Amino acid sequence: MPKKTALITGAARGIGYGIAKQLASDGFNIGIFDIIEEAAVSDSVAELEKLGAEVMYFQGNLAKKDDCTEFINAAVQRFGEINVMVNNAGVAPKVRADMLETTEESLDFVFGINIKGTFFMAQAAANQMIKQGKGGIMVNTSSMSAYTTSTNRPEYCISKAGVSMITQLFADRLAEYGINVYEVRPGVIKTDMTSVVTEKYDKMIADGVFPIKRWGFPEDIAKAVSAFASGAFSYSTGEVINVDGGFHIQRM
Ligand SMILES: NC(=O)c1ccc[n+]([C@@H]2O[C@H](COP(=O)([O-])OP(=O)(O)OC[C@H]3O[C@@H](n4cnc5c(N)ncnc54)[C@H](O)[C@@H]3O)[C@@H](O)[C@H]2O)c1
Repeated sequence: MPKKTALITGAARGIGYGIAKQLASDGFNIGIFDIIEEAAVSDSVAELEKLGAEVMYFQGNLAKKDDCTEFINAAVQRFGEINVMVNNAGVAPKVRADMLETTEESLDFVFGINIKGTFFMAQAAANQMIKQGKGGIMVNTSSMSAYTTSTNRPEYCISKAGVSMITQLFADRLAEYGINVYEVRPGVIKTDMTSVVTEKYDKMIADGVFPIKRWGFPEDIAKAVSAFASGAFSYSTGEVINVDGGFHIQRM
């Protein structure tokens, strides 16, 4: 039987790369969309190939709708069809600044990638899956910031609440086509994104803010995505899984 294809945005490193490794091990061919140039990630791509996957790397900017469409077209050309779409790429603001000082530039930057980009990539993948007529699975990466305030990065929190609504909207719209849409909601995960705030999170973890007292790792998120991508949740759509060490539990 031919291998299925999983597309993952932001998979040059971090959580996305962890997802790519897991899905390659699960037997998918992998299409990566990332802004980092291909030459810089050749070793990572080779690792995925060693796991048995055929890999297509596409350099593009999620903030550009045309790049999203071109990626989906290139993936179809290469693999014939797409079966799983993982909308993982996202950015934090370049500078954490009090919300009374948030700039238009920072808001446009974060919304452009996290909301607009995620929406149009989801739309392009959805239209392709509908055309194929065989159903499909989509998984979006939001964050505990979808419901937790950080007043020094409001643009990020709002954008992740937006990603959660994107999940609900596509889950609703695509159900009739057999395309199920899910969301992983990471807590604090050890990647480049959190490397600038390591000490802060080390302290929060030591102080017991997270019931499970450790950092999360890309593999933790990858295992949840793998479960969704397996098709095991065929009568569920719009579901959210928190991969956050239990942070979301309301505690006294
Ligand atoms: N690390 C965490 O603690 C954490 C927590 C909650 C949610 N998340 C979310 O998980 C996702 C992955 O985060 P990460 O920690 O792996 O971050 P990361 O910065 O390590 O990786 C993000 C990837 O996205 C790519 N990317 C950035 N801008 C892009 C663009 N415009 N177009 C295409 N690709 C682009 C980067 O090149 C990189 O490969 C993000 O959506 C992030 O918001 C992360």
